Amino acid sequence: MTSTTSTTRPRRARGRLRRRVSGLLALVIALLSVGTLYTLFAPQPQTAQAQEPSAQVREGEQLYNNACITCHGTNLQGVEGQGPSLIGVGEAAVFFQVSTGRMPAVRQEAQAGEKPVRFSQEQIDALGAYVQANGGGPTVPRADLGGGDVAPGGQLFRLNCASCHNFTGEGGALSSGKYAPDISRVNAEQIYTAMTSGPQNMPKFSDRQLTPEEKRDIIAYIETMRGDTGTATNPGGWGLGNIGPASEGLIAFVVGIGALVGVAVWIGAKA
Ligand code: HEC
Ligand code: HEC
Repeated sequence: MTSTTSTTRPRRARGRLRRRVSGLLALVIALLSVGTLYTLFAPQPQTAQAQEPSAQVREGEQLYNNACITCHGTNLQGVEGQGPSLIGVGEAAVFFQVSTGRMPAVRQEAQAGEKPVRFSQEQIDALGAYVQANGGGPTVPRADLGGGDVAPGGQLFRLNCASCHNFTGEGGALSSGKYAPDISRVNAEQIYTAMTSGPQNMPKFSDRQLTPEEKRDIIAYIETMRGDTGTATNPGGWGLGNIGPASEGLIAFVVGIGALVGVAVWIGAKA
């Protein structure tokens, strides 16, 4: 009895020690692997400020310094009486303004109008990258803008856009020498960035007001209306300038009254 207890006790103690050591080892290994996993997967600290700007951003800065700085300032902060701040407008606004020829503006007027575009697509991207890197804001959509649904798009257009752009996108006059332009010449990206940047009197339509899908539906409607999609734009026949009931009334009046006068003259001549 005594001999067995004397041999089992140290064996048990040794077993306990071994278990404790292996437990400790497991803990160390677990901690080490958690540490390595953390360094592997943890988000890198943001070092954007310290990073060298990319070649594209530097090209954009050069273009900006040549063509935009006098009105929009050295740090995009804007210049009193010349041009607004570009902080937070994002590459979307730059793309819209420069690709439609509105910017660079040449003189003070009620509204910077569309002019021949002065920059290549690559230069526009560079300008956008520079403004995006230094001011942030909405970006140009990279996804395909096709495939929207025309019917809800038409509804959304009538609800959100027709008050200024007319039911068919022909545009119309606003107050103090400003106008909502005809939107039949712009492409899908320009329509999209017009909505996200809200130029001049046009409201901004953020993704909360109109989701990207709804914006695509509106684009599909605009494109269908002007016949981009190959479907007949005027299923009823002659579009009559697409200015709505006024032109239809005028045609009805001219043709109808003309016919009545013709009939009256004919009856008179017979009598
Ligand atoms: C002669 C002055 C002038 C120059 C040069 C100029 N801008 Fe502008 N810019 C303006 C004015 C004024 C406005 C606001 C009026 C408007 O939107 O019609 C404006 C508006 C903008 C906006 C819209 C801001 C917003 O809130 O949505 C962008 C983007 C912009 N400019 C970019 C540029 C870029 C890029 C260049 C250089 C390629 C440039 N501008 C050159 C005067 C100027
Ligand atoms: C309150 C009036 C108003 C509303 C509402 C409005 N816009 Fe505009 N829109 C304007 C004005 C003003 C301009 C011209 C801005 C400028 O020249 O800088 C414009 C410009 C545009 C352009 C650029 C056209 C071009 O030829 O360059 C597009 C595209 C456009 N709007 C689409 C829309 C869509 C789509 C909606 C609805 C989701 C909408 N707008 C709602 C007033 C409006």
